[in-house]
Amino acid sequence: QPIAVLQGGTSAEREVSLNSGATVIAALESLGCDVRPVDPAESGWIARLDGVGSVFNALHGPGGEDGVMQGALTALGLPYTGSGVLGSALAMDKQRSKQLWQGIRVSTGGFELLAADTDWQGVIDRLGKVFVKPACEGSSIGMAPASDATELRAAWEAAAKYGDAVLAEQFIDGPEYTVAILGEEALPSIRMETDNTFYDYEAKYLSDDTRYHCPSDLNADDEAEAASLALAAFRSLGCAVWGRVDLMRDSDGRFYVLEVNTIPGMTSHSLVPMAARVAGLDIAALVRRILELSWE
Ligand code: DAL
Ligand code: MG
Repeated sequence: QPIAVLQGGTSAEREVSLNSGATVIAALESLGCDVRPVDPAESGWIARLDGVGSVFNALHGPGGEDGVMQGALTALGLPYTGSGVLGSALAMDKQRSKQLWQGIRVSTGGFELLAADTDWQGVIDRLGKVFVKPACEGSSIGMAPASDATELRAAWEAAAKYGDAVLAEQFIDGPEYTVAILGEEALPSIRMETDNTFYDYEAKYLSDDTRYHCPSDLNADDEAEAASLALAAFRSLGCAVWGRVDLMRDSDGRFYVLEVNTIPGMTSHSLVPMAARVAGLDIAALVRRILELSWE
């Protein structure tokens, strides 16, 4: 029976997902699988799932990565890759993720929710410089830094286009790391370095100037700490199979979890394939491992 590859979709990360899907399709074909691309943005997509045996979900963002599709596939009785409904829903929601981590003392930066009646100056007084982000988006879409009340209000207005829930997160002045997770294992960390103000959409997908260091510059103890923090963040949300945990490290060497991605990008610029390569898995072996872990 064919494997459906879900790609595209209707979120702001549609283009990223089409690229991820293309990578996954090529890998599955190299493994000799019969593959059927399915784009939930097209009418009649549910009928295209007729006769497929399982689903590789390469959708990013709301509608594909946030539990909605996972619930629909569960109801249809179709096995799918990656996290289930709860882990997907929690990970897509940065507010609930961070509240949960605060409750169990998983290190994450302080934050406040923003709304039209927010005391903008009060937020800056309490948190200092912040990053403003939509609670439920990916790929840095709708994100901006803010250092004063005027910038904060403007950043909130821009972020609110992507949904009512917007948060201001304490700025952590340090490099960004990411840890890919495959089953029970953390893959080697990656450190990202960009000349942009932060690791934004352009730095992620368009720029050829972004530098990726994998293995990163962490010594063995710090690498172990990043891995254990990433695994704790991932497992505490109920996530499974594969994912990627984004971290910041401040000048004192302390790590903070930014977020968990349950369907990380699989484009040619993407990080999970990079970490897998360093761990000895080429893209076909990575895709095969995701399938095995999903049906276990
Ligand atoms: N949200 C993008 C796809 C990522 O985390 O890689
Ligand atoms: Mg991220």
